[in-house]
Amino acid sequence: MMSAKATLTALLLAGSALAKDQCVPKGNCSDTSVISDYSTLRLREVGARNTLDWRVWLLRDGKPISFWHDVPTYPDESNHQVVNMVVEIPRWTNGKLEIKRDEPLNPIFHDEKKDLPRFVENVWPHKSYPFLYGSVPQTWESPNFDHEFTNFPGDNDPVDIIDIGDNVGYVGQVKQVKVLGGLALNDGDETDWKVLAIDVNDPLAPLVNSVEDVEKYRPGLTKTYYDWFTYYKVARGDDVIPIVGEKWQEKAFIIDVLEDSHGFWKELVGGKVDPNEINYNQTSVDSIDSFISRCKTNAEFDIPKKNAKKPAAPVPEKYTWWYYLDADYKLIELPKSS
Ligand SMILES: *[C@@H]1O[C@H](CO)[C@@H](O)[C@H](O)[C@H]1NC(C)=O
Ligand SMILES: *[C@@H]1O[C@H](CO)[C@@H](O)[C@H](O)[C@H]1NC(C)=O
Repeated sequence: MMSAKATLTALLLAGSALAKDQCVPKGNCSDTSVISDYSTLRLREVGARNTLDWRVWLLRDGKPISFWHDVPTYPDESNHQVVNMVVEIPRWTNGKLEIKRDEPLNPIFHDEKKDLPRFVENVWPHKSYPFLYGSVPQTWESPNFDHEFTNFPGDNDPVDIIDIGDNVGYVGQVKQVKVLGGLALNDGDETDWKVLAIDVNDPLAPLVNSVEDVEKYRPGLTKTYYDWFTYYKVARGDDVIPIVGEKWQEKAFIIDVLEDSHGFWKELVGGKVDPNEINYNQTSVDSIDSFISRCKTNAEFDIPKKNAKKPAAPVPEKYTWWYYLDADYKLIELPKSS
């Protein structure tokens, strides 16, 4: 028989596990004010990682909201150098995880290629994604017209962003980052911006405000990431990806790019333009037709009411292999032994 003390300890342990699991801040789901306390956001994860059925939703007061349409671009409207970042891919992981454009409230899922989950190849000396990768909420790389700087239409996603800070992050994390510069990729004749940023809480953040500052404190980093973006698809048989302008663009320019894409997003959720199969139901702006109260999202969109995480599926063996490129970024293939 258990002693009274052991029983009490067991009860306390069970209680704290329960509390941890269900600790959803009680808020007023009719309140449509802009999110101010990001620490109250929660996640709902369902399914097995590395499978196409796996999903992560964002919760406010325990109610599902959209990572893309409900988190503001700017944590502080008066400072456009700091933006919110939704972490899709933690650093040093290799699954191509992203916001799902065409599902209600845009959960994070495992992107597919030919009906299989997509992973990135290891191009020596980089194993998996070398940085923390995500997107800027309430922005849109509109595919409806050719963009001025690149002369190509947008890729129909929120703007991509990388955080060069030390923390590896986690899927679905919403963090505040400082914009430092960016690259304009022409990926398959689509504009695909990659914003360079750093977590505002990283020890390096107060010291860096530009691409040059990054060079000073992390010599070689900007060249390494520039090169990585050009050649990372070569291992799977694609061409090198050209970078429009062939250099890192400065911070001021990228702040403009983000402001423009925030404007395109406003037109999207306002129902003013061709949404290109994006599901733009949102819970933040009640004056436009795309609004739905977050009190109702669970039922309306049939979103699971509990976490139901399953053990991760194995990653196919080929994604553990190394790929080597020559000086012209062509794959080095060894002669086959007979
Ligand atoms: C919830 O928020 C709405 C909108 O701000 C407000 O009208 C209502 O009184 C609030 N309800 C409670 C219980 O605080
Ligand atoms: C909201 O989601 C529903 C269900 O997927 C969809 O039919 C509808 O078109 C969506 N509305 C908007 C504005 O995206």
